[in-house]
Amino acid sequence: MILDPFKLPKHVAIIMDGNGRWAKKQGLPRIFGHQRGVEVAKKIINKTWELGIPVLTLFAFSKENWERPKEEVTALFELLKNYLDSELKNLKEKEINFRVIGDKEDFPKDIQEKLEFVEKATEKYNRLILCMALSYGGRAEILKATKQIAEKVKKNEIEPFEINEEIFRKFLYTKNLPDPDLLIRTSGEMRISNFLIFQSAYTEFYFTEVCWPEFTEEEYLKALLSYQKRIRKFGKVYEF
Ligand code: FPP
Repeated sequence: MILDPFKLPKHVAIIMDGNGRWAKKQGLPRIFGHQRGVEVAKKIINKTWELGIPVLTLFAFSKENWERPKEEVTALFELLKNYLDSELKNLKEKEINFRVIGDKEDFPKDIQEKLEFVEKATEKYNRLILCMALSYGGRAEILKATKQIAEKVKKNEIEPFEINEEIFRKFLYTKNLPDPDLLIRTSGEMRISNFLIFQSAYTEFYFTEVCWPEFTEEEYLKALLSYQKRIRKFGKVYEF
């Protein structure tokens, strides 16, 4: 599989789906799927870094995931804490900037503190920006931005006619980041599920039947290759 190094996406976003189904198929509790999912995430992060793709966003916990059984949510928190503790060294060595998009304040204090610690410890790096979407929902993000802009209008800091896409973007969690060029979703589901809905207006989608715990570097390369074959028109006419 030969990738064109000049046509790599600048931002890849991934919906890591199918952990529960994969575990069930093996006759294991769902959390085993998540556990393996973390190992896969680590491999894909390293591969992204190796390829020199500048931004990777992983959907690790959605606003809707709070509705899952308490034991599953707690187990996911444990995995996140272990990830942060065990990976900080690797993030620093590889000069990876770790960022959270979503409502950090929804999490228990100890997790919030860990997340902020890792964000702070890696803020000076830029070899790869690793965005972890946690307690993230696209609609909630858009509503939050709208409320903040409305406050500014109320205080006469901005006129309604001045509100444009560029300004609106500054109030999103992803401010200063390019829109995702490629969005991958595993496990055969073909939905966006409230992930980066504003930012993915012109994103290329790649769906695979493979569940996240079985997603390999080779599968990742396949997705990237598929992306490189696409003709991106951004609503314009493409001249052959
Ligand atoms: C979707 O599978 C996955 C999640 C809700 C959690 C994703 C989190 C991870 C893979 C861990 C990554 C975390 C770190 C710290 C890198 P599902 O449970 O919805 O699967 P199902 O649709 O088969 O039930």
